[in-house]
Parts: sequence; C-alpha cells; structure tokens
Amino acid sequence: MAKKELLYEGKAKSVYGTDNPDELIAVFRDDITAFNGEKKDQFSGKGVYNATVSAFFFSMLEEKGIKTHFIGMIDERTMLVSKLKMIPLEVIGRNRAAGSLVKKFPFENGQVLNPPLVVTDYKNDERGDPPICDDIIYALGLLTPEELKEVREMALKINKILFEFFDKLGLVFVDFKIEFGRLGDEIVLGDEISMDSMRLWDKETGESFDKDVYRFGKGDVMSAYGRVVEKIEEWKRQN
Ligand code: C5P
Repeated sequence: MAKKELLYEGKAKSVYGTDNPDELIAVFRDDITAFNGEKKDQFSGKGVYNATVSAFFFSMLEEKGIKTHFIGMIDERTMLVSKLKMIPLEVIGRNRAAGSLVKKFPFENGQVLNPPLVVTDYKNDERGDPPICDDIIYALGLLTPEELKEVREMALKINKILFEFFDKLGLVFVDFKIEFGRLGDEIVLGDEISMDSMRLWDKETGESFDKDVYRFGKGDVMSAYGRVVEKIEEWKRQN
C-alpha cells in the first residue's frame, strides 16, 4: 500500500492517505513528548516499540470482540488502519490513583480504584485537554448519551482485558488513555495502545515501565519500553 499525502502530524505519529479512501497509514515516529509538548526528545527505535505493542493489543482486542481501526502492519513502525472520523475525547481508565488524579483530588498515589474509573478529557492542545463532563459532551454534539454509555462499556471491557494480561506479566495496569472514532455508524477504537499512553508498574517493586520514566527523568525510557516488549515476547513464546 503506497503512502500518499501527509494528512496529520501528531506528537508521535504521522498519518498519511493511501490509494484507498477508506484507509490510512500511521507511522509511529521516534519522537517522545511530555507536558503537552513542553519536553521533547527522540529515541531511536521508540516508534517501533510502540507500533509493535499497539499492533499486539489491537489484534488481541479484535479477537475478544472489540472493533478497532487496525488492519495490519506494513513494516515494523508503519500500520495500515481504517479511516475513522475521530471523536475529540481522551477516554481515561484508572485502576489505581496516579498522575493528574492525585494532583487534583485527595487520593493516595497507588490507591486501588475498585470499580475502575472511566473519565473523559476534551482533546484539544490549545485548551490543555480539559476534563469534560457528560452534559458538555452532549451539548457539543460529540456523543449521544447512548453512545457515551457504549464508549464507557468498551473502555471498561478493554481495561479488564489489559489488566488481566499485564497481571500475568507481573505488571500493574495503573491507567491508560484511549481514543475512539466513527466508522460508518459504528464507534471503534482508534489511535494507539502503547507505553506512551498508559502507566505500568512492577507488581513487586512499583518501578515504572511507561512514559513516567521520561516525564520525571526516572531512568532510561528505552530500557523501560524495551522491557515491556520483551515481557510480551516471552508471553507469546509460552502461549
Ligand atoms: O496525566 P493523567 O494522570 O491524567 O494520565 C492518565 C493516563 O492517560 C496516563 O496513562 C497517561 O499516560 C495517559 N494520557 C495520555 N495522553 C494524554 C493524557 C493522559 O496518554 N494527553
């Protein structure tokens, strides 16, 4: 599938048109950013790690009945996806309190959240991705109440699948961000599922294996991401 015009340049992915108007090519670049782009770097191979992990999870979720935009890999950092009409919401799931939740509300870092939380931010860099409540989602016409219910249910199902998977790898699936889009009249999972958009803690030591390593200078982010990829590869060999 030939890459055509550049349609969108995100912080870590570039999206191109293809010969097929219903499909896009997403290239996972080696860029990494934090704090809404204030901190940025490039690490050789980072895009490959995130593309590999995203493809693995999209396939796993599809097998379990979750519709995603994933079609296949073109090379190790390039994904062919269905063209979605993206919904500008960051859907955030949380199994433990961390990050902005602990900053904004009186939770202890690491506090177990049972049942897990699903909250939404409005995806808009200029406005700093503000939290958005259900009534504003409806008033902006982003989703109907029925669609929001469906999105929340999908997020909870995805959370359960990923939580149980990471538990087997000895990792706590602390929280994550996913994005959805419309494909015809269906709502399907888009964007990516990678270490850039989740928190993963070692079950025993609490060590981070995610973007917090980069955000807070906690060590070598490429070793942390590489360790997640290795753990997935080990799991694949045994299953
Ligand atoms: O920063 P906060 O604690 O709200 O993030 C919750 C989860 O969502 C984290 O795993 C974080 O990496 C992810 N996230 C993201 N992109 C954003 C905001 C949060 O991937 N713009």
